[in-house]
Amino acid sequence: MESVLPHRAARFLGDARRVVIFTGAGISAESGVPTFRDDLTGLWARFDVQRLATPEAFHADPDLVWGWYEWRRRRVRRAEPNPGHLAIATIEARVPGSTVITQNVDDLHERAGTGAVIHLHGSLFAPRCVTVAAHPATFQDPQDGDAVELHEGRRIPPPRCASCAALVRPGVVWFGEALPEAALTAAVEAAATCDVLLTVGTSGVVYPAAEIPRIAARSGATVIQVNPEPTPLDQVCAINLRGTAAQVLPALVAAAWEATAER
Ligand code: APR
Repeated sequence: MESVLPHRAARFLGDARRVVIFTGAGISAESGVPTFRDDLTGLWARFDVQRLATPEAFHADPDLVWGWYEWRRRRVRRAEPNPGHLAIATIEARVPGSTVITQNVDDLHERAGTGAVIHLHGSLFAPRCVTVAAHPATFQDPQDGDAVELHEGRRIPPPRCASCAALVRPGVVWFGEALPEAALTAAVEAAATCDVLLTVGTSGVVYPAAEIPRIAARSGATVIQVNPEPTPLDQVCAINLRGTAAQVLPALVAAAWEATAER
């Protein structure tokens, strides 16, 4: 186990032509966005997420579900990318054949400067018509510019679709729903053809996303994990760096290009 100075990981990264960075909620933890399954800080502690993040929940109580997503969206708006997100943007800029794949519905990778991000679980910022996904998202968002402080559990009626007056729903993938096909296909393709996959801040338990690092490992890539805690992915990773994203990734990036410059 390497835990302090990730020299071996840095060599793999510095030498790689195709890098995939696969992220989960842990990458945004140090920006103040709660993770899902951490005992003390995770969303699960206060909400039964599985009961809010389903099509059935939205159907049964759209105001509660929309209010919850609105609360989460506001928290993300107030958050800033952390040094982990910035280090990932640096890797993307340094390695032309790199792909960032996230399970997160926030926009912190984009705000850190990463150009193209594959969002496997959708986005908090792409709501859509609940009936016809292709309807243009031309509804008025009543919450933008609303200064009212949201509290957890506050109900807010969703806006209506401008084309058909159906409810507008969050543009995220709920439990029991399929992942966006193009995003999943692109993610699988990138994982199957990379030299190095960095998996950062994910518990690796939600499928099919959790297949991504496993596909890379099976295809011969070196899989490197950054996570302060053990996860089920430990066994597929060649290197496990135990630490937080904001601590480990900037050091890894600095060491990667120092290591290649030395040779
Ligand atoms: N840096 C790196 N990793 C961290 C940090 C940090 N600062 N803080 C926490 N972690 C790790 C935790 O140890 C944990 O392994 O991040 C992981 C977060 O795991 P989850 O909360 O399960 O989040 P994630 O893996 O993204 O969940 C997958 O499940 O609920 C669904 O759709 C939701 O996209 C989400 C998916």
